[in-house]
Amino acid sequence: MMGIKPKAAATLLAAALCGLALSAAAATPVDGRDNLARVQKGTPAEQKAAIDAGRKVAQFCANCHGEQAGARYAELPNLAGQHPIYLLNQIEVFRTGRRLEPFMQGLGKALSAEEKASVAYYYANLPATPSVATPGPRSAEGGQLFARNCVRCHGPEAHGGENFPRLAGQQPEYLRQTLKRYLKGGPERIYPPMTAAVMALGEQNIEAVVAYLSSLK
Ligand code: HEC
Ligand code: HEC
Repeated sequence: MMGIKPKAAATLLAAALCGLALSAAAATPVDGRDNLARVQKGTPAEQKAAIDAGRKVAQFCANCHGEQAGARYAELPNLAGQHPIYLLNQIEVFRTGRRLEPFMQGLGKALSAEEKASVAYYYANLPATPSVATPGPRSAEGGQLFARNCVRCHGPEAHGGENFPRLAGQQPEYLRQTLKRYLKGGPERIYPPMTAAVMALGEQNIEAVVAYLSSLK
């Protein structure tokens, strides 16, 4: 009997389907990514034009996220200095509802791909917002906990990158609320490795890590 046995055939089919699903996921376009890539490869004049366009879009964002000095509301994130791809990816998960926030979802649908790319490029090229927090009594302990539980993804100075958000100097109330959301698990923030990291950290140590991160440059 040389024919493929049903079980083997099913395995092959599953593997093929799995491959399809994977390539489909990898190919899912994130709105604005192509536009951003063009700007990044563009001439200095094209890059300046994108920054000017992004600044105009950001005048609207400033109503909540604040001017360069930082978010206007304590529980909202600063965006300056964040990697442009992280910003675009988050706008995308708001748009699709995987990160639940009704206003940002509407915005994710309303902005064009070009506007998303230019505003992400604009924020990424701003110097990071100077931290408003000063080190507290638990900051040093927070630094040790960060080194143990978080550094392998967010980087030694918590400056993040394409796939990991910058945390250094982020608003303390935003950090606190976000870490509690990951811990609890809910539609506002879903990323299982972050839930695991906050569980390993321990809820009682969230404050220490927040004190450390919010006062970092
Ligand atoms: C009406 C208020 C409001 C306005 C205006 C607004 N946002 Fe937001 N933004 C929010 C809220 C609320 C959150 C979610 C915070 C949270 O997770 O709790 C958010 C989160 C974000 C995040 C996620 C950042 C991170 O660190 O994960 C990005 C990116 C973002 N906004 C981009 C923008 C851009 C770009 C604009 C302008 C085009 C804008 N927002 C305008 C309210 C606003
Ligand atoms: C396995 C890699 C990994 C580890 C370990 C990790 N993180 Fe994260 N973290 C991420 C990723 C990826 C995101 C963005 C996920 C998303 O889209 O919600 C994130 C998001 C966050 C955010 C939200 C930032 C923002 O701008 O919205 C905070 C705060 C955070 N992490 C803090 C921590 C802390 C504190 C630790 C250690 C206790 C930690 N992370 C450990 C990968 C990691």
